[in-house]
Amino acid sequence: MSIHTEKVAKKVTLTTIAKMKGVEPITMVTAYDALFAKLFDGHVDMILVGDSLNMSFLGKDDTLSATMDQMIYHTQAVCNGASLPLIVLDMPFGSYTSKSEAVKNATRAYQETNAQAVKIEGGKERANIVKALTENSIAVLGHIGLMPQFVRADGGYKVRGKDKTDIDLLVEDAKALEAAGAFAIVVEGVRSEAAKAITDAITIPTIGIGAGLDCDGQVLVWSDMFGFFEEFKPKFVKRYCNGAELVRENLEKYTSEVKNREFPSQEYTY
Ligand code: KIV
Repeated sequence: MSIHTEKVAKKVTLTTIAKMKGVEPITMVTAYDALFAKLFDGHVDMILVGDSLNMSFLGKDDTLSATMDQMIYHTQAVCNGASLPLIVLDMPFGSYTSKSEAVKNATRAYQETNAQAVKIEGGKERANIVKALTENSIAVLGHIGLMPQFVRADGGYKVRGKDKTDIDLLVEDAKALEAAGAFAIVVEGVRSEAAKAITDAITIPTIGIGAGLDCDGQVLVWSDMFGFFEEFKPKFVKRYCNGAELVRENLEKYTSEVKNREFPSQEYTY
């Protein structure tokens, strides 16, 4: 396994991820297509085909209308582009409402894509679903804290872990998911002291997003971190470049060259 700046040289497995806890921070980004998956291949430990694609890729207001067909289609594309990272398919809202539905849909995910795991949102109330999946040899990445699929039920996106009672609830959630067989847990939108308490309480890795430095790894949505998604920017998003600006500037150049009959010049002509 790599350390920091070196490229990831080998296929990342569930065992690789388990061994990284307390040794080396785990890097994860989202991807929705082969083009970007190929760019990320070898540079991150895990890729999440997140249902966030419903917002940044499809332009919807939340993730709730993403479907299993959509997640499978995009995961196939990502698997075509990247061979080294561990690839996780995000189970969409409504696809794991019962143990049998969850097993049926996650089995489809395994049979129709090369994803090595699925992600589901929810704490101890979903532990029975996680157990049903892991008992059927399907690896599960849990997701607790701020859960985008709960946005309508919760009345908005709310940061969690602001007091001891809530921190204790989050720790209970994490322990229940670990006991049910989850291989790691995404911890989203929680105060850093809560993320530390969760990370210290379990033996599987935590992957933070808006959860501070004390998680075992970090995940960001690619279109947020590269500045392509401009509608809003949560506090936890660091924009590593301004992708949207780069595209606009260069599109302007292209438009002006075409309008002025400068492109295609001799160099680009048969
Ligand atoms: O759908 C997604 O991209 C996610 C991440 C925010 C963890 O669930």
